[in-house]
Amino acid sequence: MPNTYIGAIDQGTTSTRFLLFNDKGRLVTSHQLEFPQKTPCPGWLEHDPYDLLDTVIRCADEALRKFGMMGRTFEHIKGIGITNQRETTLVWDRKTGEPLYNAIVWGDTRTDRIVERLKTRDNGGHIEKLCGLPIHNYFSALKLNWLIENVPKVKEAIDQDRAAFGTVDTWLLWNLTGGIQGGLHITDVTNASRTMLMNLQTCQWDDQLLEFFGVPRSILPAIVSSSEIYGKVRWGPMEGLPLAGCLGDQQAALVGQRCFEPGEAKNTYGTGAFLVMNVGETAVHSNNGLLATPVYKFGNQPTVYGLEGSTGVAGAAVRWLQHNLGIISKPTDMDDLANQVEDTGGVVFVPAFSGLFAPYWRDDARGTLVGLTQFSNRCHIARATLESVCFATHGIISAMKDDSHIQLKTLRVDGGLSSSDTCMQIQADLLGIPVERPKMRETTGLGVAFAAGLAVGVWSSTDEIRDLEENTLMDVFSSTLNDHDRALKLKLWNAAIERSYGWAKL
Ligand code: G3P
Repeated sequence: MPNTYIGAIDQGTTSTRFLLFNDKGRLVTSHQLEFPQKTPCPGWLEHDPYDLLDTVIRCADEALRKFGMMGRTFEHIKGIGITNQRETTLVWDRKTGEPLYNAIVWGDTRTDRIVERLKTRDNGGHIEKLCGLPIHNYFSALKLNWLIENVPKVKEAIDQDRAAFGTVDTWLLWNLTGGIQGGLHITDVTNASRTMLMNLQTCQWDDQLLEFFGVPRSILPAIVSSSEIYGKVRWGPMEGLPLAGCLGDQQAALVGQRCFEPGEAKNTYGTGAFLVMNVGETAVHSNNGLLATPVYKFGNQPTVYGLEGSTGVAGAAVRWLQHNLGIISKPTDMDDLANQVEDTGGVVFVPAFSGLFAPYWRDDARGTLVGLTQFSNRCHIARATLESVCFATHGIISAMKDDSHIQLKTLRVDGGLSSSDTCMQIQADLLGIPVERPKMRETTGLGVAFAAGLAVGVWSSTDEIRDLEENTLMDVFSSTLNDHDRALKLKLWNAAIERSYGWAKL
């Protein structure tokens, strides 16, 4: 099938992209727009649902214009996939299409009290056994519970059977496939799993979970696979194109990195770092603070599961050096500074700005900078910052090994901070395995383009996708550290981690 293309909508936390890939998996053109972050109270983070939809339309419009300018034609675009920030929660009126509140974003912490209350009701971790996730403000069920309890319009719409709930994929699919009154009310299995309302084994909504979180079944979308033709776009610049793929963004990056075999993993270094490992067709529950989650389900094929751990802080630590300490003027200064010293001179930085995430889960921890001497300077601190991101990743990989008994052979990386050669070399040194960085970094968009392309026949199988030459071009970083030095560094890191515990409660 020559000259065929697939579009990808990548609706993220701070920006939206529309990308077009050809059938070799090569990025042809794209457009990206940022949108406002709304913070009405400390700890609250919201998005205007229309900003999310509007930026999708404007990005598609501009990318398709550039595509046309290249002499390419719309008819050769075979389908579109949607990938999105996960857990972000919306409720709208299915009769009018009107959102009943802003989207409550995944990082919003307003539900802390609900979390405490529900944790005491959960008997022996039963909830986590059902859905693979710990009760935490991160997930949609808590946000939905807050909306039902605190927004009268939401309660009223539920009572009158007019309310529709969805994560961002659902909101976009509903709008793109319909007119004012909306179209399909669906979500894919990877997004559904992050609500905490889906049973991990059956991949269907679970009555016990719905009852526990006080969510009526009538407001939920249907759960579909990550790769099938759902319907067509009914209006706007993408009108007529089949919507054929849907994946949460971290799962999409795993697919874009072609981690199709158990034991293959990717780490996306964004604001925080999200590490996801494919564990195969049987879900693995974690004993070490990781999340069990589906990573994709292509059409009628079995669901493939993964383990996920996120560090909370990665690029955010670099931004802190830039904006709060002022020791760099732009993120790319990090390598210059860090490379002026051979090591951190014993300095260790734990950027636990709002506690520690996986695998430690200590919300009483706070940022800690230890080992300073008269000779310590900003170069040591810059290097210690890069090391902190890599140590945190090391912690997650060790936890994954304990849970899955799988020893990682290589780690594939993407996201903003993966552009730092110094950081990636440190990562390889601390892990003792090669770190592989694809030349083409838009792996999230590529992942959902693969899902959509499989559904519309651009690619016939994951084997074909794995062999696409375009996506095998990598920079590889190999470990140069011996076991003794690695163990010494990890000893210092673990000691610094312990010193960060409890600081918020002193
Ligand atoms: O779980 C949250 C995650 O999906 C957000 O990803 O890239 O939009 O920050 P990103």
